[in-house]
Amino acid sequence: MTGPLVFAHRGSSAALPEHTLAAYLRALDEGADGLECDVRLTRDGHLVCVHDRRLDRTSNGRGRVSARTLAELDQLDFGSWHDSLAGEDAPTDVPVDPSRTRLLTLDGLLRAVRAAGRPVRLLIETKHPTRYGADVERRLVELLRQHGLVDGALDGAVQVTVMSFSPLAVRRIRDLAPGLPTVLLLEVLPPRLRLGRLPFGTRIAGPGIGLVRARPRLVPALRAAGNQVYVWTVNDPADLDLVLDCGVDGIITDRPALILDRLGR
Ligand code: G3P
Ligand code: CA
Repeated sequence: MTGPLVFAHRGSSAALPEHTLAAYLRALDEGADGLECDVRLTRDGHLVCVHDRRLDRTSNGRGRVSARTLAELDQLDFGSWHDSLAGEDAPTDVPVDPSRTRLLTLDGLLRAVRAAGRPVRLLIETKHPTRYGADVERRLVELLRQHGLVDGALDGAVQVTVMSFSPLAVRRIRDLAPGLPTVLLLEVLPPRLRLGRLPFGTRIAGPGIGLVRARPRLVPALRAAGNQVYVWTVNDPADLDLVLDCGVDGIITDRPALILDRLGR
């Protein structure tokens, strides 16, 4: 394969409700090289794939994810809010099994990618390092160990990379599991960031597309200094052209089918 890796952001999340098994399986069917997911902790210490601090936007529940137990969250519907499944006008071309739009645990996602029968790269973003203390990273590494996924090798199965906007979270991961690759996510450029030496041994930078639009020379500069660059969230052809011109290593997108098609894959 030539060209950048394509990662499905929260699954194929323009087409189906984000962070659901349905969205992730669709991304794999569409041919994505990898998947991106956010993880946070339930009240009883389980890692679940949910982006927002609160349940309100992506489920029929209310309040904070961290205030609920896994069993409580398991009762909720994480699918019906999305255009693809909502109302009488919902497209009927892709029937979705309702069991695949329930809460997805990280353990469930790891089982699904391990069952995919082909190599899958999984980018796991930990949220929220200051609120949860070190618990998210500790439990993440524990779970990855149970699945035999802490060495970072793409051994024909799954390769996990851990991402965070927080250098503190990245450091925790490097300390707990030095074999795991890490991505430092960047929304803006921190004043003291040394492009040639990302903090704590991280070799992959993850700038947002807004930052790349504003500072297109950042990507070649990061790469010239020996880093890889994964850009999020690239959803339209103009942004795709821009990041291809800049020469990125990975594209994180809500629309993997569109991006793969434009890449001729
Ligand atoms: O892939 C990185 C990107 O997901 C970071 O932003 O808010 O979508 O988690 P957010
Ligand atoms: Ca994310």
